[in-house]
Amino acid sequence: AQKKSLKVMIAGAPASGKGTQCELIKNKFGLVHISAGDLLRAEIATGSENGKKAKEFMEKGMLVPDEIVVMMVKERLMKPDVEQNGWLLDGYPRSLSQAMALENLGIRPDVFILLEVSDELLVERVVGRRLDPVTGKIYHLKYSPPENEEISSRLTQRFDDTEEKVKLRLKTHYQNVESVISLYESVMFKVNGDVSKEEVFAEIDKGISAILENERTVDSAS
Ligand code: AP5
Repeated sequence: AQKKSLKVMIAGAPASGKGTQCELIKNKFGLVHISAGDLLRAEIATGSENGKKAKEFMEKGMLVPDEIVVMMVKERLMKPDVEQNGWLLDGYPRSLSQAMALENLGIRPDVFILLEVSDELLVERVVGRRLDPVTGKIYHLKYSPPENEEISSRLTQRFDDTEEKVKLRLKTHYQNVESVISLYESVMFKVNGDVSKEEVFAEIDKGISAILENERTVDSAS
């Protein structure tokens, strides 16, 4: 039988650790990581009209309108590497209409991972987050400090990573998350994200491995 590619969605509040876990999932399972936030930041960097419009919404911690986001994600999902290796969708869908855009194309995940992190920790994670513009790696001044002085000196901060903005982002998250969850309840896998990134990954690894194991059993039985 032909190998079936795995389809994974990961959701959670701002700074719950989605990007951090995606890096670990990608390394172990070889899925193509598609981050809606990264696609939008790349669009902003081109200086396009869509990028400018997206930035206005992101600065207010609001969802960027569907006509910009949905197209971007759909186009990425249609590329051949995705069909071959499977996908890991991060930060999409964030509303029922975004989820329905995928449903209409017959696109459903094998698993919907929901990272659960307490609000107090989220603010600390946001304000301490730093990014390496050279490697794209995510750091945290306290929890994942840079390996050396050279990296440390080039780290940058995201424009929406302030305490004030994360509160707006969090509000938007809570306004929308329930409607998305309701659609994927049957494949939902909740993970406690309050613990170290290694412990969080151990849980996710168990969940994904169980799905793959189950598919192998079904395949060999048919
Ligand atoms: P997006 O870029 O997706 O941001 P977000 O959802 O707010 O999530 P983050 O990227 O901030 O956090 P994360 O969960 O990836 O955490 P990370 O691993 O970095 O979206 C930004 C904006 O774009 C939105 O506000 C919206 O405007 C727009 N947008 C995006 N998608 C959209 C869509 N579908 N529709 C419309 N608009 C959209 O971790 C955070 C920090 O914590 C890091 O420093 C990390 O090192 C640290 N950390 C991680 N895990 C742990 C751990 N277990 N213990 C200790 N520290 C940890």
